[in-house]
Formats: sequence, structure tokens, C-alpha cells
Amino acid sequence: MTPFLVGLVLAQGQIADDIFVARPSVQLGSGAPGTAAIVWASKPRKSFRVAFGRDQFAEATQLRTVDVPSTPSHEVWSAQVGPSEPGSTVHYAVQSGGSTVFRSSFDLPKTGKLRAVVFGDCGFGTRQQKEVAHQAWLQKPQLTLITGDIVYDHGRVSEYRTRFWPQYFETTPGPSRGAPLASQSVTVAVPGNHDTLYRNLGKYPDALAYFYYWNQPLNGPLTVPGAKNTPVLSGPVEAQKRFLSNAGPSYPRAANFSFEFGDTFWVVLDANPYVNWNDPVMRGWLERELEKGRKKTWRFASWHQPPFHSSKKDQDYRAMRSVVETLAKGGVDVVFCGHVHNYQRTHPVLIDGMEGASSDRLAKGDWKLDRKFDGRTVTKTRGIVFVIEGAGGGPIYDPQFADKPDTWKPWTAVYKAGHGFGVMDIDDRKLTYRHLGTDGRCTDEWVLTK
Ligand SMILES: [Fe+2]
Repeated sequence: MTPFLVGLVLAQGQIADDIFVARPSVQLGSGAPGTAAIVWASKPRKSFRVAFGRDQFAEATQLRTVDVPSTPSHEVWSAQVGPSEPGSTVHYAVQSGGSTVFRSSFDLPKTGKLRAVVFGDCGFGTRQQKEVAHQAWLQKPQLTLITGDIVYDHGRVSEYRTRFWPQYFETTPGPSRGAPLASQSVTVAVPGNHDTLYRNLGKYPDALAYFYYWNQPLNGPLTVPGAKNTPVLSGPVEAQKRFLSNAGPSYPRAANFSFEFGDTFWVVLDANPYVNWNDPVMRGWLERELEKGRKKTWRFASWHQPPFHSSKKDQDYRAMRSVVETLAKGGVDVVFCGHVHNYQRTHPVLIDGMEGASSDRLAKGDWKLDRKFDGRTVTKTRGIVFVIEGAGGGPIYDPQFADKPDTWKPWTAVYKAGHGFGVMDIDDRKLTYRHLGTDGRCTDEWVLTK
């Protein structure tokens, strides 16, 4: 299909940067099948629209004004494009005042297929962050999953400006510059500790930027600011009021959500310490969402803090073990975490009626593992594989354990140091996962089949 865009004046890669605070990204928006949201931040502007596909238009909605001290006031916009057919390339052009001010495109997965890239703990502003962004973009994914700790150190607007937008919106791609990954694939972000734990709005007036820039489905269980399981605000009342006004319905709802994408179903959970996943409200929501996912071939969960890993750092945080039984009942195949800055995967973890599986108190030897699964000759399992992709840009944790199985906890199957990211390919009932380094070389490959 030849793309046709009315009013096109810019070639791909040319941008009217006097307009944008953050260039357009592709996000989930409402999550309606076959659709995506084009999301950008601009200096104050009257109106935008987005042209897409063959002579179609979507009016842009102003999601919010971000008005905080320490950064110029700006507006966040979103326009839903689609629905488009599976496998189509969706060309889009952001227009304002009769001119096209940005254009790009993204691909939707073909029926039964998907390529996703996965990385986390990325927004450090390092050379390795840019290398990972560039290599991930070279894979031409339809979906990009960021497993939390999107920007360091404090999840602030000012940190998005220096440690996220330049790296993932770079239109002249290269390992020393980054790439337009966020403009050319549906990009999904999971809230990590650095995204939501800094809530003193007196000390960090532009913190909690997660709730400003991510337009993800507002189908989570939490609607009341300050209620149980939400990231409660602190600092001067005026600063809190300003944040609530800026964020609108995104806070606190956007911390947890579910979505479908092609033939996959996902739950994204906030695993920060203020959330108790044994709370019936949280657990009930998770059970209901997973039930919705049953019609899909593949089901995934993602949260930030891993329940099973072999690094020394953060070994004690195991609260999310309490949801493993619910995930198993819901037919989840793989869980993607970050937080620990390296790559690890577990043997499939089995529940099989294990007593105490819905508590966080089980010790390291109490978990049943499917050791017959090797991801090569034995590719079927009833267990859940836990993957850690936490090497997207921050300093690597505990590299001394890499490739030394005798130093690992019983559940760990692979442990690699060095920066990198995952590439997941789904082809109907076969899932192939590769972990690639910053040079693009594969350091782990495994297959899961149904
Ligand atoms: Fe973290």
C-alpha cells in the first residue's frame, strides 16, 4: 500500500522542533484493538490533528498541561489512530496550523505474530543507554516494553528532558545517539521505584512524571488519590494540588493496567512497596483481568521488582511472590521484570497446588521448578518463566555471578552481565526469546511452545 498523507510537507526525520517539548511517541492510549495513541508534548499551542493511513484524520486531545516549577509550562497531547488491519504499516503525520510538523510510522503485528523488545532501568543518560536504544530499534519491533525505572534518579520531568526523550526520539539513529524507537513502535512503560517513590513535591516539584507522559489504558483498580495501594503524595499542599491538576485521571489509575496486543494479553502491575497485592481489591482486579486474557494464545505480566533472582543487591524484596499462584491460574506464560541491573531468567516456576504459594514467605528451596524445560529440546512447560531485563542503561549489578551457576539461587537458569535487551518473537504457538548485547550479539536464546 502506498502511504498517502494530505498536507505532507516534511520528509521523515524532519521535525519542527520549535513546537515540541517531547516529540511524538506511539503509545497504547485506550488499548482498543488495532489502535494506538500518538502522544507528544508541546509548547502552548491552539490545536493539532494527526493524519494517518489513507487520508484519515484524528483530532488531537489535550490530555493535560504540565505546569511545575523548574521547567517551562507545556501541554501533553494525544490522538488515537486506527483501527488498522493486523500487519499494516501505519504512517502518521502531526499537523498544526495547516502544516505537517512531524511524521513517522509504526508497524502493527501480523495475525499470530509479534516482535517485542524488552529493557529496563534505562534512563541514566549513559552511552550504553543509547547503544541499547539503537540496537533495539534495529530489530524493528512492533512493541517496546520498558520494565521500569524509566528515568533516574527521581522520575522527574527534568530527567525525561535529558535522559529519555533524546535517547528514544533521536531521528538520526546511531549507537552514540540513540534512535526513534518510541516514535516507531508502540511503547509501554511499567512504573519502577525511581518513577513513583519520590513523592515529596516540595523537594521534587516535577516528580511523578510517569503520570504526565504515559497514555496507557486507564483500566486499573485504583481511582482515589491517597487511598490504600496508591503512591501517596507529600510536600506542600499547593504543590500536591498542582500535581493532581496536572495529572488528572492518570493519577493514580495509570499505575496498573492491562492490554491486548495482537494475539497477546498483558497485565502491568505496580510492585512498589506501598502496594499490597494480597489486598482483595488488587487481587480481585488481577484475577478478573487475567480471565479477560484467556482468549489470547499468550499471556504476560510485567512489573519492576523481580520475585526471583540471584543478584546480591535487592535479594530480600520478594513481596510479588504472593501473586505467582494467581498468575499460574490465569495462564501467564512469562513475567518481565527489571530493577536488578543485568539479564536473568529462571527455570519455569511451578505451582502445582504448592502450599503457601500465595504468600511471600516461602524460602528459596520451597519453590517447585521445571528443570526438564531447557528452551531447546524441551520447550513446553506448565510453569512461568521469570525474565529480568534490567540492563538498559544503568550501572550493571553483581557481574561476578555471570555464567557461574554454582553461585546462583536454585531458580536461576541463566545470568548474564553487560548492557542489553530482549527480543521476543511470537509465531503462533512458538515463542523465541533472545537476549542481545549492545553489539547486537545474542547471549541467550530459548524457545517456549504450546
Ligand atoms: Fe528499580
